Parts: sequence; structure tokens; C-alpha cells
Amino acid sequence: MPATIYVTRQLPEVALAPLRARGVVRVWDREDIIPRATLLDGVHDADALLCMVTERIDDELLAHAPRLRIVANMAVGYDNVNVPALTNRGIVFTNTPGVLTETTADLAFALILGIARRIGEGERMVRAGRWGAWSPFAFLGHDVHHATLGIIGLGRIGTEVAKRAHGFDMRILYTNRGRNAAAEERFGCTRVELPSLLRESDFVLVLTPLSADTRHLLSTPQFHMMKHSAFLINAARGPIVDARALYAALRDGLIAGAALDVTDPEPIPSDDPLLTLENCLIVPHVGSASIATRTRMATLAADNIVAFLNGTRPPTPVNSEVLS
Ligand code: DGY
Repeated sequence: MPATIYVTRQLPEVALAPLRARGVVRVWDREDIIPRATLLDGVHDADALLCMVTERIDDELLAHAPRLRIVANMAVGYDNVNVPALTNRGIVFTNTPGVLTETTADLAFALILGIARRIGEGERMVRAGRWGAWSPFAFLGHDVHHATLGIIGLGRIGTEVAKRAHGFDMRILYTNRGRNAAAEERFGCTRVELPSLLRESDFVLVLTPLSADTRHLLSTPQFHMMKHSAFLINAARGPIVDARALYAALRDGLIAGAALDVTDPEPIPSDDPLLTLENCLIVPHVGSASIATRTRMATLAADNIVAFLNGTRPPTPVNSEVLS
């Protein structure tokens, strides 16, 4: 019997074609997120599932998918997936590391520059027809070059940001579970404890994965440790930052500004108070959103499924213990 492969979003044909060659492919081909009930119904006969960060892969879903053998997440982060639940059932789980590193680092650096130089604010003013005369004091921002950058989570993406920051002559501090000796050597990064990073940085960049340990890692006490002139940038996952505390910190001038690629919840509701603040730059979770990179992510997710169905090792397994 041919394998049934369920895909939760329309993807480039270059990624779908190898799946079609390997089994029966069913695609949720609308632009909006697949409704939960449709997904639960859709996976009832699926052998393989290619999903996005927008789908929750948990015990409830697995109970609806008795034939499932592999889940391929089209993302490097996988806080949307209960990996132990998959592992317990012997289901292989894969993600898409590596292919999005530089693109996401570019976006993180764009956020640093954007909030420091008030790009969103300036653009809003120009479009509103409020661009007055040039003045020596108009729209003054902060320099990024030679400033101190604190990176929370110096993994692949963090290291690429450090490379960019090194080019801007920035001093780079970081926290990470382990030492990143290569980044220390190549880009002069210094590993410190979180309180020191918060106290000394002009830009605090969040790149750590979301877990029980990192949920609300940054909240009121941490904002109090930061300089009043400092900026917070979140390019990881929304819930790592306590959004209510961030709003209060920005409103009260505890910190100078924030730039967010991710929010809690996503999408951010149109009446969220953060959207009323000029010193908050928000973009819609686009870290990996270049044409080439999204195509690479889709292709890698599909490659993982095809390899598994062919009885070979998927290129990027997360729970590789299931394969052995
Ligand atoms: C990832 O890969 O984790 C991104 O956040 C999804 O674009």
C-alpha cells in the first residue's frame, strides 16, 4: 500500500514533487492555518506528517494518527511538538536546522538596526505626510557600531549574528548552556552570566529555544537590570518574553525600545497595547522568510520524509534514538 503523506500547508512544487513520487500526498492548500479539527481528521490514515510551527503536535493529535511513523517540522524550533510523546510511540521527528541560519541572522541584525535607527517610526511618519523640515535634532537614534550586544543563546543563528556584529566593531557578550569557543576566538565573544549580560548590553538579543526553563525568561526583574538606553530584540519565540511586563517597561522608559519578530500570542491581536508604542518594532515572524530559505526548509522537510519512507536515515532527525 502506498504511504499517505499529510502536508499542512501549500509548499513549493520542488518540495512536493519528491513526496508525490513516494506516496499519496494530501495538502491543506489554503493560506490560513489548518483548523485543528481538520488536522485531527486529516491525519487519521497518515504515515507521514509534514507540519509547520503553527501546528501543535501532541498526545491528542497522535491519538488520531495510529499509522504515523514520521513527523517532519518545517522549522528549526520545535516547541510546538511534544517530542517525548513521539519518541515513546517510536515516531521519528525531524526539523530543519542549518538551512535557515544566515537568513534568520540577517533578520535579527535588521531588527537591531531597525530599532536603533527608528526605521519603523520614521517610515510611519513619512507615510502619514508628517515629514517636517530636516533638523539637527530630528529622529536621532543610537549607534549600533561599537555598541555592546548581548546574545542570549549563542547557537548556530547566534554565531552568525556575532559574525555580523563583529563586522560592526561591536563588543559581544553571550549566555549559552555550553561555551562557544569558536565564536569566542573568531568574533571575540565573551561568555557571561545573564545578569551581567543584561546590565552591560546596549542590545539584548534573544535567540534561545522556548522551553519550560526559558518561558518568561525576560520579565520585570530582568528589565530592571537593563540600561534605560538598552533595546530588547526577540528573534526566537514570543513567550520567552513576558509581553505585559515588556509593555510596562517600554511605556515607563525602563528600557529604550524593543524589536520583535515573534510575539505571544501569534498573530498579535490588533488591540495589543504593544502596537500603540512608537518604540516597539514588530514584524510577523519572518526570520527565515526569504524565497530561497523557505524553499530549502520545505525541501529538507520533504527529504526527511522521503529518506525515512525509503528505509534510509533522514538527514536531520531530532530523536535519533528512535532510528537505532
Ligand atoms: C523556525 O525555524 O523555528 C522559525 O521560527 C520558523 O520560521
